[in-house]
Amino acid sequence: MDERLVSAEVEIEEQSLEQSLRPQSIAQYIGQDKVKNNLSIFIEAAKIRQEPLDHVLLYGPPGLGKTTLASIIANEMGVQLRTTSGPAIERPGDLAAILTALEPGDVLFIDEIHRLHRTVEEVLYPAMEDFCLDIVIGKGPAARSVRLDLPPFTLVGATTRAGMLSAPLRDRFGVLSRLEYYNVEDLSTIVTRTSDVFNIDITALASEEIARRSRGTPRIANRLLRRVRDFAQVRGNGSITTDLATTALEMLQVDKLGLDHIDHKLLIGMIEKYRGGPVGVDTIAASIGEESDTIEDVYEPYLMQIGFLQRTPRGRVVTSQVYDHFKMEVPAD
Ligand code: ADE
Repeated sequence: MDERLVSAEVEIEEQSLEQSLRPQSIAQYIGQDKVKNNLSIFIEAAKIRQEPLDHVLLYGPPGLGKTTLASIIANEMGVQLRTTSGPAIERPGDLAAILTALEPGDVLFIDEIHRLHRTVEEVLYPAMEDFCLDIVIGKGPAARSVRLDLPPFTLVGATTRAGMLSAPLRDRFGVLSRLEYYNVEDLSTIVTRTSDVFNIDITALASEEIARRSRGTPRIANRLLRRVRDFAQVRGNGSITTDLATTALEMLQVDKLGLDHIDHKLLIGMIEKYRGGPVGVDTIAASIGEESDTIEDVYEPYLMQIGFLQRTPRGRVVTSQVYDHFKMEVPAD
């Protein structure tokens, strides 16, 4: 895959940067009001009862702050956070080792939980439900099962694809929270907050310009901010004005809605080769040299969110807004 400035996936060198920016409390966390309001009530109630919080599933597109929320939940509950991910837990024994090392009340965060192996998932069911582990010792006729008690804990699972979670796993979460793309106002506030943390001089309108082009995603907003700051230091006097931000983002080929050259290739390809659709996702994938899964997980969600693309039973269709965006004439049919 092409290196993409507007990819919502975290880049390796960004990880520690994100860590240092991470809000520590619900009060510092901007946006996602519905999720925040619910979580604060559940956290408060759990604290009054002196019980661990119910298991929480966070789902939604990448880059919206699922990991951040998990660490905030641990902070607010006053417990430790243990972090792992679905693909990192290869065998049931790996999960058993993690679970038995927890302290009472701890938050265990499993990112990409839809990628857990079936055999590992089965260990998780009794752990979530009854805080115990069923382990088989010995082999053949001598094999027997022993039940091990675990400390009570909270599982926070994160996934970009809630639909790929098995029903028994999904049913064991008491709280299901769906993260939404951020609006421009909340993203501007995040850009301003990040600028404060890094001592970047930026105007309110420039923050908004960066926010508008960030595809509803804080991770992208913070990345664009860093690239625009580079421009400000080299081409300007270090301060980020709207003019500077606009020029920089144009040079970076991120358009007014945050679409990049790959989005353009996809949309214009659909119009020029397939009269705007309907066209199957596999055909689109082949025509721009990408995997179908990548199209579905990476490119389509935002294009659908802004009303540029629709999924129909016969395939994908571009909307009239795409023609408007590219100043192309909408065909008569
Ligand atoms: N940085 C990234 N996402 C954030 C959020 N939702 N609130 C505050 N700062 C953030």
